[in-house]
Amino acid sequence: MKKVKLAVVGVGNCASSLIQGIEYYGHHHNEHSDGIMHTQINGWRPQDIKVVAAFDIDRRKVGLPIAKAIFAEPNCTTVFQKLIPVNGVGVKMGPLLDGMADHMKEYPESRAFRVADVKPVNVVEELKNSGAEVMVCYLPVGSQKAVEFYANACLQAKVAMVNCMPVFIASDKKWANKFKEAGVPIIGDDIKSQIGATIVHRVLSRLFNDRGCKILRTYQLNTGGNTDFLNMLEKSRLKSKKISKTGSVQSQLDVPLGADNIHIGPSDYVSWQKDNKVAFIRIEGEGFGGAPINLEMRLSVQDSPNSAGVVIDAIRCAALARERGLAGPLNSASSYYMKTPPVQHRDHIARELTNEFIMGKNIEVNKNKIN
Ligand SMILES: NC(=O)c1ccc[n+]([C@@H]2O[C@H](COP(=O)([O-])OP(=O)(O)OC[C@H]3O[C@@H](n4cnc5c(N)ncnc54)[C@H](O)[C@@H]3O)[C@@H](O)[C@H]2O)c1
Repeated sequence: MKKVKLAVVGVGNCASSLIQGIEYYGHHHNEHSDGIMHTQINGWRPQDIKVVAAFDIDRRKVGLPIAKAIFAEPNCTTVFQKLIPVNGVGVKMGPLLDGMADHMKEYPESRAFRVADVKPVNVVEELKNSGAEVMVCYLPVGSQKAVEFYANACLQAKVAMVNCMPVFIASDKKWANKFKEAGVPIIGDDIKSQIGATIVHRVLSRLFNDRGCKILRTYQLNTGGNTDFLNMLEKSRLKSKKISKTGSVQSQLDVPLGADNIHIGPSDYVSWQKDNKVAFIRIEGEGFGGAPINLEMRLSVQDSPNSAGVVIDAIRCAALARERGLAGPLNSASSYYMKTPPVQHRDHIARELTNEFIMGKNIEVNKNKIN
């Protein structure tokens, strides 16, 4: 089986979980593999993804084989697959741009980024030479310039993009058109984890509205101890994440809530939690006769494998779109896998549309096709 050739930008915790998973599912290939949404997409199993290029800026990762870099500090996610074969792919230095928040310098090495003193490579050339077909973007929240740099590299090297973070590319009209014009597909923006705070909050909000209950107020507070949460201590970097998370829940409500009645976002950094993310969700509503209904819940997950379980699908969908000659945002897969897609759907509809796309029945995405 021909492999899907993948480039990874940002070899952090999410990349670690993804690459561990690619190896792990090679050893656990049952018909219904636990933890996987689609065991096969276009015949590709999770283990049919092959990393051919990787970029980072941290001195403990740049220059290392990718198989080793995914376990280097400050990565702190759970290790469920210790042995990763070294395949000759090393982590190359990318341009830093706005990839690192200043306050990272004040935190211990073991918990924060440290920039390598190395000249960046020519990313477009590296992509072309590696034969990469899909790039997954795992840059830190707030890296507007860096994400735009890598999006442009995708356009030039004709590599499909899976944008897992909340800089708006697939959902931005200007960028979406650039991808259409270049004949390159994109799935984005900001990955919606398997059973993460966003999907749970969306589904519970729908439950209220579908059962005729009015939602008066809601919050979602999140804490974690990985570098994603440390990075987001800087409020100015956080803006797009809050927009993405809030918009994702608002899109599911019959009547969107006023800004004073909805509060959603990453809330604090608690170092010892490491990659354990804890979400506290409260929904205040009214049922029959205006009777009050208050729901409170706590969700505890390992943040990075939770997202990798979705990215492993998105990569294969992007490769399929590329193989079919599609260009621009894939609306179906973006709405299923991402918090901020170009078009929001109810999650069960997004799932159906994605399955139709995989089976080649979805005409909606074919509209993007350019010849
Ligand atoms: N469940 C999840 O974990 C989840 C869900 C949705 C979105 N995301 C988003 O995915 C992104 C990645 O998350 P993560 O937990 O892996 O973050 P992380 O902090 O572990 O990794 C980020 C990596 O990017 C590298 N980097 C920084 N600037 C760079 C540059 N200019 N070029 C190349 N590499 C650079 C860092 O050195 C680090 O290795 C974040 O934006 C996060 O918000 C994660």
